[in-house]
Amino acid sequence: MTIAIEDRLADLKNKMATREARIGIVGMGYVGLPLALLFSGERFQVTGFDVASDKVKTLNAGGSYIVRILPSEIQQAQKAGFRATADYAEIEKMDAVIICVPTPLNEYHEPDLSYVTGTVESIAPHIHDGQLIVLESTTYPGTTEEIVAPRLEAGNPLGLKIARADEKTGVHLAFSPEREDPGNDTVARHDIPKVVGGCGTAASELAAALYGSIFRRVVPVSSPSVAEMTKLLENIYRCVNIALVNELKQLCMKMGIDIHEVIDAAKTKPFGFQAFYPGPGLGGHCIPIDPFYLSWKAKQFDFRTRFIELAGEVNIAMPYFVIEQLTAGLNEQCKSLKGSKVLVLGLAYKRDIDDLRESPSLTILELLRDKGAVVSYNDPYFPKVGHGRHYDLNMTNTPLDKLGEFDAVVIVTDHSSYDYKAIVEQSKLVIDSRNATKGIVSPKIVHC
Ligand SMILES: NC(=O)c1ccc[n+]([C@@H]2O[C@H](COP(=O)([O-])OP(=O)(O)OC[C@H]3O[C@@H](n4cnc5c(N)ncnc54)[C@H](O)[C@@H]3O)[C@@H](O)[C@H]2O)c1
Repeated sequence: MTIAIEDRLADLKNKMATREARIGIVGMGYVGLPLALLFSGERFQVTGFDVASDKVKTLNAGGSYIVRILPSEIQQAQKAGFRATADYAEIEKMDAVIICVPTPLNEYHEPDLSYVTGTVESIAPHIHDGQLIVLESTTYPGTTEEIVAPRLEAGNPLGLKIARADEKTGVHLAFSPEREDPGNDTVARHDIPKVVGGCGTAASELAAALYGSIFRRVVPVSSPSVAEMTKLLENIYRCVNIALVNELKQLCMKMGIDIHEVIDAAKTKPFGFQAFYPGPGLGGHCIPIDPFYLSWKAKQFDFRTRFIELAGEVNIAMPYFVIEQLTAGLNEQCKSLKGSKVLVLGLAYKRDIDDLRESPSLTILELLRDKGAVVSYNDPYFPKVGHGRHYDLNMTNTPLDKLGEFDAVVIVTDHSSYDYKAIVEQSKLVIDSRNATKGIVSPKIVHC
């Protein structure tokens, strides 16, 4: 007996409302794992999928590999039915599948969608009629419809199609961007409105029902491309504005003006201004990468995204600017960078998080090494740093008990656990790229 599509939709929506719907989340990383816990906290049966067997093992043992997620939270979720697996055959049992895998750039600065295509090709053989699939990975407009949809259709043995406008059967496909801000506890995750765009009306409705069960507000848009572009607009906005203040900081330094005092004054304006802060360069999985997804796609339309390119140029130059300031500071003390002992304070790409991806500290460490400095680092979140996609450091954390032995300390990440007053007192020279020493008066500090 064929069930009418209206009934099937109502049935799945009802399962979401009653928490009987089974949710599969693919990619148990910084985005997927917290999302799994959020759904689990709302009494859904959640299965986390990941190709990394060590992550699956840790989660199933009730452990965590993300600092801000406590093992007790994983154990709590386990009691509610959460488990992790690397077995894609289990996709079949899911009512909704959310994909949260990485979307980096390749060595030519072009989108690397291999994680998305790999995931889609792996799940396609196991999808079923009426299932909801949502892509959350940040990507260029068109990915859901041009990359995900055809692979889901080609890869399933049942010949299932994506249910677009009028189809009565098929798989429901949507895009919904992740808007998490790691380390920012001022807004609860469920208070961040969730944008959703489905390939058809049914997909939009189902995605809205799914996310409506955990987010206070769902913002439906007319297509996956609009939802994809929304996420990029948000990140490009940040990237361009950070580049603007990074550039103005350099001018202000020449003019003897404190850019931070200027920003603090400007942000008293109750409309039309949002404060962005200068720093040693961009980091994280999003802001340094996502804008270039759009630049790449724009070329298909003979279009140059000049703001993105200019912002990229300014931001990429910032670690070099920090090195220049360090060199000048050492010079004042009749020292050369070559041979100087330099401690990089803070490796994470931003305050109070354990994420090193694309961090400007990595470029700074490599530049320092290339220039012959004797380099160490301190970061409470990283006992050691080995190698990653773009770095090969092989270093261990240096305690802060012998700061006087270093020729300079470079503040790259302003973790709140640091005692900046003590750091300045004990150091010979402090290069502060984060305004972390605000309010401390000392000739040893170089603000940059
Ligand atoms: N981290 C953030 O703050 C943030 C914020 C907003 C959006 N995003 C976006 O979310 C997406 C995921 O980012 P993230 O930070 O969670 O990445 P992550 O690297 O922390 O996690 C991704 C996980 O996916 C797993 N994975 C890779 N390929 C897989 C496959 N084929 N099948 C199953 N698992 C696979 C990896 O093992 C890893 O555990 C990216 O597109 C990113 O741009 C991230």
